[in-house]
Amino acid sequence: MAIRLTTILVLLASSINAYTGDAGSIQLIPQEGSHQFPFFEKPTPVLSYNQQVPGPTIRGKEGSTLSVEVFNRLKESTTVHWHGLRIDNAMDGVPGVTQDPIKPGGRFTYRLKLNEAGTYWYHPHFNAGEQLERGLKGVLIVEESEKLPWSQDLIWLIDDWLLDKQGVIYPHFNTHRDLMHDGRWGNVVTINGRWKPEFAASPGERIRLRLINGANARVVTPIFDGLTAKVIAVDGRPVSKLFSLDKFHLSPGNRIDLDIVIPPDAGGNTYEVKNHFTRKPFTLAVIKVKDEKVVKTPTFATPTAEDFIPASLFKKAAVAKTWDLNAIRGGKYGIGWSMNLKLWPNADSARFSMGRPQKILFINSSTRLHPMHIHGVFFRVLEKNGAPAVEPFTRDTVLVGPNERLTIGLVPEHDGIWLTHCHVQSHAEAGMMTTISIQ
Ligand code: C2O
Ligand code: CU
Repeated sequence: MAIRLTTILVLLASSINAYTGDAGSIQLIPQEGSHQFPFFEKPTPVLSYNQQVPGPTIRGKEGSTLSVEVFNRLKESTTVHWHGLRIDNAMDGVPGVTQDPIKPGGRFTYRLKLNEAGTYWYHPHFNAGEQLERGLKGVLIVEESEKLPWSQDLIWLIDDWLLDKQGVIYPHFNTHRDLMHDGRWGNVVTINGRWKPEFAASPGERIRLRLINGANARVVTPIFDGLTAKVIAVDGRPVSKLFSLDKFHLSPGNRIDLDIVIPPDAGGNTYEVKNHFTRKPFTLAVIKVKDEKVVKTPTFATPTAEDFIPASLFKKAAVAKTWDLNAIRGGKYGIGWSMNLKLWPNADSARFSMGRPQKILFINSSTRLHPMHIHGVFFRVLEKNGAPAVEPFTRDTVLVGPNERLTIGLVPEHDGIWLTHCHVQSHAEAGMMTTISIQ
């Protein structure tokens, strides 16, 4: 009976492309599927959750518990990782660390205690470079218990696909080229699976726009020409202090929530949102303002989290762990991406005690990009290249640029073994992964 009920929920939900956590339990079915891009005659074969690209947006209320039953209909194993959520270690979805891979035909139920409202996402952590690239990813929204009266709550999941002329996903992964560079950068950038989509707004509207970078490796720097965008949250958590969006590097894994007011006199205008990370900027999406009556702009203050992991906690803390990031010869692919010259699974791991503020120093000894992600914690960037550089927000993923040294601070609050890795998938698969054990 329980199975039947979830099946019905899946059917219902796929028609509205959203689930709600109040239902208590949902089902995710990774499987083969197809997706129509605008440039090709035939649909592109992909992997999907529940036949959707991207996967269904999962919504749950802060404080609620959500069970997600994953039924693996792929031809290979998989797991699901809930990027950014601080949950039970056993639910973290890391094969060989927190669970066994879910075999083809197998099932695994994730029980997620949704403690912290915000923008998160989910993706496989098994053969992740390929499974993510082929389309397995989705957004997870934990809703605030007190809803703010936004005119619109928009979700933009950014993705990057490497397609050939026939619209087939380039089938070679972790190539020499990927490994020598910043991983697999594609040639079609999509938002919610669509290329340069258009979003409608009315003059006067106040929009919460959640941007999620779900790309395999590409970093994106969104610029809203002609609109002011305030950053209200980074990596799911409210910022310590509001600030205007300006050259924010959204690396794979990162999220930002923006507060955008459409000017009352903007009726009929079109605003392009462009990516400025690459030398040649290009359009990600378009906001088209309807030429109609001005709506009343809702007024309210968005929450900030000044006391959340403040920099002052780390004044007396010494650096507890240094990880030097560099390429070495060796590993599965001949080129290894190492942390302290070690390649996963023979990693140089860290061990921290619960509740004690800790500093980590990442030293990028290479000229490539390494968006470093730590599971199960939020951290604050404290220093860059030895000088104070406290960010007005916390993160779960930070881009360590070429030859950069970054010091971050975190306070372990959840015990378990938490994966720590570069979110450029080919770097991670070539060894750039380790763990932090928290006791
Ligand atoms: Cu998006 Cu190991 O994570
Ligand atoms: Cu990397």
